[in-house]
Amino acid sequence: MDYRELGRTGWKVPALGQGAWGIGGFYGRDDSRDAEAIAALKLGIELGMTLIDTAEAYGAGHSEEVVGMAIADAKVEVFVATKVSPEHLSYESVIRSAKASLSRLNIKTIDLYQIHWPNPRIPIRETMRAMEKLVKDGLVRFIGVSNFSVSEMEEAMASLAREEIVSNQVEYSLLDRGIEDDLLPFCEKEKITVIAYSPLARGKLSEPRRHLERRKADILQKLADKYGKTPSQIALNWVTRRLSVIAIPKAVKTEHVKENAGSVGWFMSPEDYEELSKVFSRHR
Ligand SMILES: NC(=O)c1ccc[n+]([C@@H]2O[C@H](COP(=O)([O-])OP(=O)(O)OC[C@H]3O[C@@H](n4cnc5c(N)ncnc54)[C@H](OP(=O)(O)O)[C@@H]3O)[C@@H](O)[C@H]2O)c1
Repeated sequence: MDYRELGRTGWKVPALGQGAWGIGGFYGRDDSRDAEAIAALKLGIELGMTLIDTAEAYGAGHSEEVVGMAIADAKVEVFVATKVSPEHLSYESVIRSAKASLSRLNIKTIDLYQIHWPNPRIPIRETMRAMEKLVKDGLVRFIGVSNFSVSEMEEAMASLAREEIVSNQVEYSLLDRGIEDDLLPFCEKEKITVIAYSPLARGKLSEPRRHLERRKADILQKLADKYGKTPSQIALNWVTRRLSVIAIPKAVKTEHVKENAGSVGWFMSPEDYEELSKVFSRHR
């Protein structure tokens, strides 16, 4: 596993974590695949993907419960990231949500607590006051945001008195490169980690022949053959190339977990990286 510094905290996190959207349900609770999901998360931890990302909204809270079960007897330290929903951003609601997440996760400290989406109806200063209180009380280690634009980040950063924003979780993959215009350069300048969600474009990049136009499918397959990897591994290797980015693919199938774990710990050549970036460029 490769490791990256989280923001400027000095903490190392794996370049590849595990996403938990859909584990324990999507919009509502679904416990029909709990055993499979717990086994997948445990295998991922064993393979070094020791950062797990969930949210109070996922599976109406059940995702956090499943993550809690998966990490309960972990032999290594697991870095747990969860999120507070945009409708819970008032001071009291943030505190209440964090305590409820801690209880569902069955842990004492949330390593990374992220604002899931901005909410313009609640002053960010009020939300950040609650976030800093959670850090002061030891219930949260680091503060992050998700789906924040550059201007929303600037406002959020200016609202913090003692702590820093260490990460912004946003969509980023070969098929969605919108952050490259301004958000990614901003985060790199400020030393804020980008946590790339949907790094496989929800599975589209795993089946290039089925979902992608021919020249994109061709280059993914060409590089997969060259490096003895799969298209998914090439796509994840590309997304985690920058030291400022970590990715959190979601997988419940054992073979997917193993495959994803093999996407880091090696680098494609700079020439291949450039060629791949060019073929998937938005500006062609
Ligand atoms: N902050 C936000 O607003 C936000 C939004 C979306 C997602 N997220 C986070 O990001 C995580 C990942 O994003 P995502 O779930 O949207 O998309 P994703 O990780 O790009 O794709 C997940 C899908 O790809 C499949 N898959 C995974 N590895 C594969 C492989 N090696 N080969 C073939 N198929 C593979 C999975 O199947 P199986 O599960 O069947 O293995 C699943 O259907 C989420 O779980 C969540 O934690 C955050």
